Amino acid sequence: QLLCRILLIKLNTRLTLLPCQRRQASRQTATGSDDKNSVSAGKDIDYYSKFSPSPLSMKQFLDFGSENACEKTSFAFLRQELPVRLNIMKEINLLPDNLLRTPSVRLVQSWYMQSFQDILEFRDRNAEDEKVTHDFTDAVIKIRNRHNDVVPTMAQGVVEYKETYGTDPVVSQNVQYFLDRFYMSRISIRMLLNQHTLLFGGKVNPAHPNQIGSIDPHCGVSEVVRDAFENARNLCDRYYMNSPELVLEEFNVEEKGKPVTVVYVPSHLYHMVFELFKNAMRATMELYGDAMEYPAIHAQVALGNEDLTVKVSDRGGGVPLRKIERLFTYTYSTAPRPSLDGSRAAPLAGYGYGLPISRLYARYFQGDLKLYSMEGHGTDAVIYIRALSTESIERLPVYNKSAWKHYKTIHEADDWCVPKEPKDMTTFRSF
Ligand SMILES: Nc1ncnc2c1ncn2[C@@H]1O[C@H](COP(=O)(O)OP(=O)(O)O)[C@@H](O)[C@H]1O
Ligand SMILES: [Mg+2]
Repeated sequence: QLLCRILLIKLNTRLTLLPCQRRQASRQTATGSDDKNSVSAGKDIDYYSKFSPSPLSMKQFLDFGSENACEKTSFAFLRQELPVRLNIMKEINLLPDNLLRTPSVRLVQSWYMQSFQDILEFRDRNAEDEKVTHDFTDAVIKIRNRHNDVVPTMAQGVVEYKETYGTDPVVSQNVQYFLDRFYMSRISIRMLLNQHTLLFGGKVNPAHPNQIGSIDPHCGVSEVVRDAFENARNLCDRYYMNSPELVLEEFNVEEKGKPVTVVYVPSHLYHMVFELFKNAMRATMELYGDAMEYPAIHAQVALGNEDLTVKVSDRGGGVPLRKIERLFTYTYSTAPRPSLDGSRAAPLAGYGYGLPISRLYARYFQGDLKLYSMEGHGTDAVIYIRALSTESIERLPVYNKSAWKHYKTIHEADDWCVPKEPKDMTTFRSF
């Protein structure tokens, strides 16, 4: 009980409020129960937008879930933190009006609004009452399910908008900036929802008895890499009737010869390497066409003092440097768009979400994902993960003036010369 309280106090003191905002906040909480019904949703949104999200470290997630596992603490933290994180909906409003008016974006907005209100239902409920905490856990499960299709629905909205209104560089840049923040926020919200339901939802996961919620304190990296490779390979075999081999190497600097492990969310790691393998396989198969043998895909796993690095290398012909950043644009794909024939079989490629979303997963816990390519040869894709759990801290978007400026800045002339056709040098002869 005491540990729960300490943890809660620690978490609550991290909420960043200015003194005047804090006064206003406590005044609103005091009057909250009286005129709760009259307070419009808009006011609630404004209230929670005054807070900054509180990023948690991997270590805090573990403390929350291991010996201190306490549903009450988790409840008290989430009923404050979730509305703050759901406030990313305020940023949606800075997108072009015509994008906001698409049915898909409206649907996403309605999900966020509903979930925001579902959580607010618990604002004044008694955390000591077991029934309340159980109801909350049920509500969390409902919210998680409601948001399952946010990514494809939002993507659909962007496609609809582009097809109807075309696009210009400023809008594209704003949409890319927004989606990076919106999906990062979603990853973080799902992390919180998953931890709560896995720890307190009443079901023990027999497949992963050592995991703390979705976190594995001893995540065997090569195991996840092999698993992802095999599943990508199945898709590749189905599409191309063949597939390249895997060559996997491990380097453990600290404890030579021992398998590399890290405190991490295995499903996040799996997501990233699975996407990289699918890309590497497609590039290889497209380049080698009908050849009977294909160059293997190499994966290397290295654990140092600071970084855990996973490199996936292919010999699929590479990409010119000029195009690398473009590959991280949402919906950019050189593969044919997968047909929506209702079979729901996962395609090998085609949505253009593989790289940008994988990079968000890497960045979520302060890592990164980069592509180094040699055009004419092949590509190295590198995932960086923090080796120390104390340094794996959530990276969260915060809505403030500098975020606002990103949407509103008028794009001025470049401060570097733009290369043009060479001038006729004869005009300079008189010099
Ligand atoms: N290893 C690679 N070699 C060559 N091109 C690549 C590689 N990885 C990604 N690409 C290019 O980047 C694009 C975007 O990749 P991704 O975001 O995974 O979307 P998708 O795989 O659905 O097309 C691909 O369509 C492909 O053109
Ligand atoms: Mg892909």
